[in-house]
Amino acid sequence: MRQKIVAGNWKMNKDLERGLELVSEVVNMVKDEVTSSVTVVLCPPFVHLTSVNKLIAGQSNIKLGAQNCHQKASGAYTGEVSAEMLKSVGTEYVILGHSERREYFQESNEQLAEKVNISLANGLLPIFCCGESLDLRQNGDFVGFVTNQLTESLFHLSAEDFGKIVIAYEPIWAIGTGLTATAQQAQDMHAAIRKHLAGKYGQAVADATPILYGGSAKPSNAVELFSCPDVDGGLIGGASLASRDFTDVVKAI
Ligand code: G3H
Repeated sequence: MRQKIVAGNWKMNKDLERGLELVSEVVNMVKDEVTSSVTVVLCPPFVHLTSVNKLIAGQSNIKLGAQNCHQKASGAYTGEVSAEMLKSVGTEYVILGHSERREYFQESNEQLAEKVNISLANGLLPIFCCGESLDLRQNGDFVGFVTNQLTESLFHLSAEDFGKIVIAYEPIWAIGTGLTATAQQAQDMHAAIRKHLAGKYGQAVADATPILYGGSAKPSNAVELFSCPDVDGGLIGGASLASRDFTDVVKAI
């Protein structure tokens, strides 16, 4: 059975006090809900990682995630954070290729392949994001676009390394817009992604890869989305900023 994962991406939100308040509430609310069948990943801004890690210590199914890392190991890259640094403060997962990084920081598929490599080399588990724009969804080969993102950034990996990847399908038109993909749209794309993975790595690897949905997922739609056979959890933005909402999404798994 595939691991179910609900990851909360805080993006650039919450000062330290409010962030820790949120984590304490989430820990209290989910500790009875979180069983070995679901992993909760909290992805605060870099500066909060160490403090959040202290609060989740002892919660075996609540993990720490970062929102990005640099593709180089170290060096003169002012303002950047390396995979090694993330690992050294207890980070286990790292979101790579979020559409906001692709759009605002011009991250390319090739650069993301390097980020994937350096993350894996440092023992971090990538949550690799893919997804199409509204224009592509309406007028283009959006399945081909998404599967190409995966091919160009991930398909150089060995099957063993690929086994450490979590995929997050996030249609850009659904992120922070209130528009959610229907459960059928999500299922269709997740199934297409899994088929693409099977073509490269075989059915067993494809069947073992968690594919999360992201894009205005919230308590009111999570049950339906998570009931799709190929949807293995969610990458949650807005609804991860309030403990009740986030916990309800976790419970929807
Ligand atoms: O990383 C999370 C996604 O971008 C989804 O964000 O839930 O606010 O739409 P959202």
